[in-house]
Amino acid sequence: MHSGKGHIDETYIHSDRAARLLCNPNLIPAPGQYLLAHAATTPDAPLPHPIFKAASHAAGFYTAHPLPTTWTPGTLLTLRGPLGHGFTLPPAARHIALVAFGNTCSRLLALLEPALAQNAAVTLLTSAPPSGLSPTLEILPLASLSKLLSWADYLAIDLPRAALQAVFTQYPALIHNDYATEFLVETPLPCGGMADCGACAIRTKNTTRLACRNGPVFPAQAFLK
Ligand code: FES
Repeated sequence: MHSGKGHIDETYIHSDRAARLLCNPNLIPAPGQYLLAHAATTPDAPLPHPIFKAASHAAGFYTAHPLPTTWTPGTLLTLRGPLGHGFTLPPAARHIALVAFGNTCSRLLALLEPALAQNAAVTLLTSAPPSGLSPTLEILPLASLSKLLSWADYLAIDLPRAALQAVFTQYPALIHNDYATEFLVETPLPCGGMADCGACAIRTKNTTRLACRNGPVFPAQAFLK
């Protein structure tokens, strides 16, 4: 874990990425990991904002949605991270499904570059595809998920904490399967594990885990009863 400075270089609205952030290489999170950031203009803001990677850039990285609307080009940030456990893309995976149940598929798109580097076919399932997505992606509606389960050998799923049980009920195969499935669970991450605030607590298997420290990416096995 490192700390340092960065700044917003450019922002985007109708795009799969929220901004270009320039920072030192040691601060760049892996797919599914996060940084905690404070804007230098609001050093007294009570809570930092978690920043996830959407794509690579030579001088930093492209951030995923959402970011605070007050962060405009030139905004200086104090950064801490990378934090948490990210995705573990199986090297042998050749049929990869990225499934966005939440408001954005942006965090999942950080997996696109490593997936293509291992010659995998990638399908994105989302109800709201942003513009500018890579033409290498096949894009399908969420309703196609059941059919896709027999095709995929790795699934990365982004969903809000409140949707966990409903998704498991609707798609029990997601946690009872022979292929690799990981869940990026969206929760508040106010302290990043520094204060044990408990705001990110998630009920898994027989215990409660902290998304900030034990996640925010969890393997399917963590939710098996
Ligand atoms: S964010 Fe505070 S314990 Fe996880």
